[in-house]
This record gives sequence, structure tokens and C-alpha cells, in this order.
Amino acid sequence: MASYCCNSLPTRSHFISSDFLRQLKTQQLLDRAKRRFDVSPRSTKVTAFYGLKTPPYKLDALEPYMSKRTIDVHWGELHQNFVEGLNKQLEKDDILYGYTMDELVKETFNNGNPLPEFNNAAEVWNHDFFWESMQPGGGEMPRLGLLQQIEKDFGSFTNFREKFIEAALTLFGSGWVWLVLKREERRLEILKTSNAICPVVWDDIPLVNLDLWEHAYYLDYKNDKAKYVNTFMDHLVSWDTAMGRLARAEAFVNLGEPKIPIA
Ligand SMILES: [Fe+2]
Repeated sequence: MASYCCNSLPTRSHFISSDFLRQLKTQQLLDRAKRRFDVSPRSTKVTAFYGLKTPPYKLDALEPYMSKRTIDVHWGELHQNFVEGLNKQLEKDDILYGYTMDELVKETFNNGNPLPEFNNAAEVWNHDFFWESMQPGGGEMPRLGLLQQIEKDFGSFTNFREKFIEAALTLFGSGWVWLVLKREERRLEILKTSNAICPVVWDDIPLVNLDLWEHAYYLDYKNDKAKYVNTFMDHLVSWDTAMGRLARAEAFVNLGEPKIPIA
């Protein structure tokens, strides 16, 4: 039989007051939090939090529209640098430890006053999403529900395609173009974002993104951004992935759930 002894228990009464229990509970929570964030030599040092996700195809599978050389540099070096940079930042401030990447992006966006970790976190999210927004044999037309939603919200696929390309070509500086589902309005929209900004910070649900940083296209297309963007639409974009994302999002949006679960 286990026995318990606590010297700080009151000795004049057989009853423990509710105030005392509250104090004890508070102290237990404080002790737990202290242990959680303890940086004493006895605590285990966590040195990495996130890994580099692999694209869902071989690195030469998008040729000739996106070369292996581009993906080697873009994914193998630049994307990897964002992951390593983020992990280094988190080593110094492990209060952010344990978030999913979605949560980390929203948390570090800090309502429009980004924390130092935001750029790396968002660029990891954006690139993970970008690789999965393409597929070998991609492009052409979306199908089924996605096509219907595009026709409903943009009039026609041709109109949507023109607007997406126009958004990409008028983006000033580096950034991204997105097809998103607006959660409240329940309609599709094309968005442009600068630098690392990712629409999940506004609670939008991304379906497709296109990287418009120069590193994404320069090796294959030099300064011909229009050729890169048209090639993405004609041969690279994965409408299958976008359709799956929309179907999953719609189910929860229509049910009024406050949060899309992490896949
Ligand atoms: Fe990039």
C-alpha cells in the first residue's frame, strides 16, 4: 500500500480547505510548466523540430517543364535552408515547440506583427504546399466539383486561368499567387502575397500556390516569367490535389467546423 506524507498539510484539522487544494493545484501546474521549459543541464536538449518533406514525385519527374536542376537547388538547398533556419530559431525559444506547421505559421504571424520565426515557418509551409501543388502530367483542366466551383466563382475556367496568370505577372517583387477557398464567403478567390505571407494567417484555405520568387524559375526560364506561369498552368499544376483539398475543406466549411484538421 502506498503511503503519502506532506509536511505542509494542516495539522489542526482533518479537513483540507478548498483554498489549500486550489493552492496545491496551482503549485502543481507551475511545477509542471517549470519542468516543461526547464533548461537545466539535466533536461534533454531538443535540437530539431521539423524535417524537410520530400516532394511526392521523383526530382526529375516534372521535366522538361521544371528541371531536376531547379528542384535540386530550390528544394534541396533553399527549402532545406528554411527548415534548418527555423529549427535553429526554435532551439533558442522552445516555447513554440509542439505546434503543427499550420499552427506555427498562424502563431508567429502574431496578428500582423510577425515574430522572427515567421518567415522561415511560412516558407517551409509554402514550399511543402507548392511541391504538392504540382504533379507529372499536370495542368490542363480541373474536373468535377472543382471545375464547377471555378465556373461558379469565375464564370469559366478560361476566365479563371486568365486572372490567375494576370495576378502572377502583376505581382511586384517576390511572393506567391494562390487559389484559395474563402472560409466565410464559401467562394474561391485568387490572392497575391508578398515574400513569405501565407493565406492561412487570414484563415483562408489554400488549394493551389505558385512560387514567384526568382529562384523558382530563373534556371529554366531566365526572365521569362510569363512562360513559367503559362507552363505551370498547362503542364504542372495538380488539379487532382486541388480537388482533394477542396473536397476536404468543403466538408468542414459546410459543417461550420471552426478548424480544418491537419492531414
Ligand atoms: Fe521558393
